Amino acid sequence: MTADPAVRLAPAKLNLTLAVLGRRSDGYHALHSVAVPLELSDRLSVSRAAGRTDELHVRGFDAGPPAANLVLRAIDAARSAVGRAVEAYPLAARLEKRIPVAAGLGGGSSDAAAALEAALDLWGADRRMMDVAGLAAGLGSDVPFFLGGGPALLEGRGEQVTPLPAPRGPALGVLLVTPAVPLSTAAVYAAHASGRGTISDGGATRRTSEHLAAELRTGLRSAELLLRAGVLAAANDLAPAAAAVAPELRPFRRALGRLLGRPVGQSGSGPTLWALYPSRADAAVAAAGVLAAVDAGTLNVPAGAAPFVAATTIAIPGAPLPADTWEESTR
Ligand code: C5P
Repeated sequence: MTADPAVRLAPAKLNLTLAVLGRRSDGYHALHSVAVPLELSDRLSVSRAAGRTDELHVRGFDAGPPAANLVLRAIDAARSAVGRAVEAYPLAARLEKRIPVAAGLGGGSSDAAAALEAALDLWGADRRMMDVAGLAAGLGSDVPFFLGGGPALLEGRGEQVTPLPAPRGPALGVLLVTPAVPLSTAAVYAAHASGRGTISDGGATRRTSEHLAAELRTGLRSAELLLRAGVLAAANDLAPAAAAVAPELRPFRRALGRLLGRPVGQSGSGPTLWALYPSRADAAVAAAGVLAAVDAGTLNVPAGAAPFVAATTIAIPGAPLPADTWEESTR
């Protein structure tokens, strides 16, 4: 049993590679993807509810109606799974959303994994008696990745998670730029399936993905990963589909690449774009440059709205948690 409240950081994820291998008979797509957690995180605090029903309060980015939030669905699923083994009392969850929504960063899935773990811990459920990964997979293809806490190879529809070693050496800086064009994952996969935005690259993305997974297994250093940025930026099979759904993404990505003078990739189903740097400080300098260019009107932004711009790092498993900005007075 864990202390009340149970507090969890729910990290964003970056797909360093994302190969779509084909469409399955169940409508999902078979993937081969190397993903890493980022230090940029939502924060979830869960405690016993005063009333008789589960509650969710969200601060920060607008995540839509609380009733539809994966956090409440995760608590529900956890309650069904524990059955009568423990007293699964009502929970009040407070979520601080710092990860942009519908951005290709897995924020909603990460919140769901954190809620699942927090609920089971608070109730004192015996996880050894449960298929927690199966529960997570039932909530969404990306949710099991976030149970692991480290880099992983994702296969199947994304729910088959094989841990990979983190790149060795100092944590790389990551610049994230999320244009204000939220993309539904389902819409991007549908565009891919319908042939809009499919490219025939002879399996190059898959080879890049397999090669990266193999290199991480044999101790790839972060400096070497940085040298692979150009190849990785090209290794996302959903990028053409995202650009088919939101055509303004393509010119924006090109313009951002010119401004940064670095390879720019897309995370997941987009629209978030990324660039790698030797350190968070270097990424922060780049982030300031992007914001200045937006302000000056020299970088044309999709939807005419300022993008979300953040400098973060690839999270190192077991590293101290970043400073806490949650104000408990909001409880
Ligand atoms: O699993 P999840 O609910 O997060 O997926 C959202 C949608 O994205 C699915 O309904 C499906 O249309 C699409 N998807 C897919 N192949 C995957 C993952 C998701 O087609 N591997």
